[in-house]
Amino acid sequence: MTLRLAIVADIHHGRPSTAKRGDRALPLMDDFAAFVREAGATRVLDLGDRISDENRETDLTLQAEVAEAFRAVPVPAWHINGNHDRDHLSVADNEAILGQPLGHEVQDVEGWRIVLWRADSRIRRGADGSGFVLAEADLVWLARTMQAADRPCLVVSHVPVSGHAQTGNYYFQNNPAASTYPMADRARAALALARVPVVCLAGHVHWNTVTCVDGITHLTQQSLTESFTTGGEAAGAMGVIELGETVRWEVAGGDPFAFAFRPDARRWTPPLPEFARHPELRAVRLTQAAE
Ligand SMILES: [Fe+2]
Repeated sequence: MTLRLAIVADIHHGRPSTAKRGDRALPLMDDFAAFVREAGATRVLDLGDRISDENRETDLTLQAEVAEAFRAVPVPAWHINGNHDRDHLSVADNEAILGQPLGHEVQDVEGWRIVLWRADSRIRRGADGSGFVLAEADLVWLARTMQAADRPCLVVSHVPVSGHAQTGNYYFQNNPAASTYPMADRARAALALARVPVVCLAGHVHWNTVTCVDGITHLTQQSLTESFTTGGEAAGAMGVIELGETVRWEVAGGDPFAFAFRPDARRWTPPLPEFARHPELRAVRLTQAAE
């Protein structure tokens, strides 16, 4: 059996901001409802950043409008909070508006385990800089969940942990630290504890990417309303992921993307250290230099 899930990322309903066409969010959510119906998906994954934040009062209204738009989608959604959902609102605020708990969650469907890793996605702002914090409780939950995995897992989060390069990314080329968690390598180590195939899916970075690390395939999906890759028009990115022995991920809209692969439980050989630090490799170089 294969499982088909529809995906929407970084809806960013609200005022247009930088390259985000928040003014297009609600009409595009109408299109998304039709897309889900046609795609025959049984569930929707909302990868977070449903709004572009302004202040608490406005954000409560914007979130309620997005929740209303989800009511037109014909199947239930699993929601995840992004950083913009948390700038002025708590997890409890979002739970009340969306009508679902937003803690970590595991759902077994059609031979797959959907791991909703709802790690803290708030950006902390302090005198010594700003950024995400990978909370120990979130890391430990991920590690335990991966250790216990007995079937293929789709791990879903707002913030990607692949560590992929941000060259060319409108937001993150010059701000790579804000594209992921500091210590994302520890999240990757937690994922690698799984003895089953693992696929990761995230939003946040507003582009479609595939990155393979240690035998784990990490996907990020373009934002519904992003325009930096689409000449100023909202991308209208709407995805479907089909989970079976083969995984097929397809993104429709102005920034289309398709990728199919067979996830594998095998992890990769641990990378070499710097050549100069490895006694064997250093010895070879010294021998060669002496010859
Ligand atoms: Fe976003």
